[in-house]
Amino acid sequence: MTPTAHIQHIEISRDAYLHNLDTFRRLLAPGCRLMAVVKANAYGHGLLPIGRLAAEAGVDYLGVNCVEEVAALRAGGIGTPTVILGYVPLHQLGDVVELNAEPVLYNLESVDRLQAESARRGRRSPFHLKLETGVHRQGVMADALPAFIEAVRRSDHLVLQGVGMHFANIEDTTDHSFAQLQLAAYRRMVAALEAAGLSPRLQHTACSAATILFASTHFDLVRVGISSYGLWPSKETYLSAILQNQQPPVLRPVLTWKTRVAQIKDVPANAYVGYGCSYRTTQPIRLAVLPVGYADGYDRGLSNQAHVLIGGRWAPVLGRVCMNMTMVDVTHIPDAAVESEAVLLGNQGDNRITADELAALCHTINYEIVSRIGAHIPRLVV
Ligand SMILES: Cc1ncc(COP(=O)(O)O)c(C=O)c1O
Repeated sequence: MTPTAHIQHIEISRDAYLHNLDTFRRLLAPGCRLMAVVKANAYGHGLLPIGRLAAEAGVDYLGVNCVEEVAALRAGGIGTPTVILGYVPLHQLGDVVELNAEPVLYNLESVDRLQAESARRGRRSPFHLKLETGVHRQGVMADALPAFIEAVRRSDHLVLQGVGMHFANIEDTTDHSFAQLQLAAYRRMVAALEAAGLSPRLQHTACSAATILFASTHFDLVRVGISSYGLWPSKETYLSAILQNQQPPVLRPVLTWKTRVAQIKDVPANAYVGYGCSYRTTQPIRLAVLPVGYADGYDRGLSNQAHVLIGGRWAPVLGRVCMNMTMVDVTHIPDAAVESEAVLLGNQGDNRITADELAALCHTINYEIVSRIGAHIPRLVV
């Protein structure tokens, strides 16, 4: 079946994605490498379609969360160097060597096991060390660094390909003093590594917001996720760019989520719509039933709040979003009929529904809106 034959599909704009990657390339000094972060099914955009476009665009690295994602990329014919940003269980470190992936390490156990798996295969494996500078997520604490230096020194089958860190508070604020503190802590830790004779080939600290706002965070490689998909990390990031007298980069959203009307019905006044009778009609209305629900990633928090687009016009969601269905008001859209296209996210005609709008309705961030769109929905590059 072609993706458009399904009851819903995601369209991925090739032009928009390539435009965004090119926009980031232009922000970087010559020689600075670009990683397209494609973890979490490419933030819901589809690991393989996005991985292929990123490879075609010649990105230097792909960033994934886990070994399974590397295996899927390789099985899909994508051989671009790949860094595993998330956790690799010890028993998968042999697979990492086989797949030629570069894990990010921060446990001594992982360093020792990767050394053993590499030695067994007669290979020298590149890896990245993650430094803890203030997120208190993954990363080596400053006082644990000497032990890591020792472990890396004695690991003759490992190559310290990179050293990195991640910012805790760069998207959520226009006050970047904490990010600057982290950067200073990072520089101190890297200096300690270098003083011990360990010089990583690549230093990397920058996510989308850091890449846009601070060239001082770029080092040798930037790790760009959300903005490669055409979304701003936050309003604060956009505002910060303006406050810095920057011309904010033009980002183009990549994803459109489409479905089609499954049923149209006329509903009288004083009738209820959906579970929990949370919506009651005050006048006769025409209702369209859409075959998409929260099991597909259309958040239940959108109940009675969001709109979809049908015939280029806004159709309000009525009642609760169900597991696989959602009802919308099409009283004012006379052309709406069975199989009419409905857009849940993206453009239709002159109107647009953004991930930021849906995120605001659900009290979350655009990252969550897109990355939770069901992986079972076909992705179609257009
Ligand atoms: C370690 C790491 N680097 C880079 C990124 C990309 O961040 P963004 O999507 O804000 O560009 C992420 C995303 O969460 C991450 O965890």
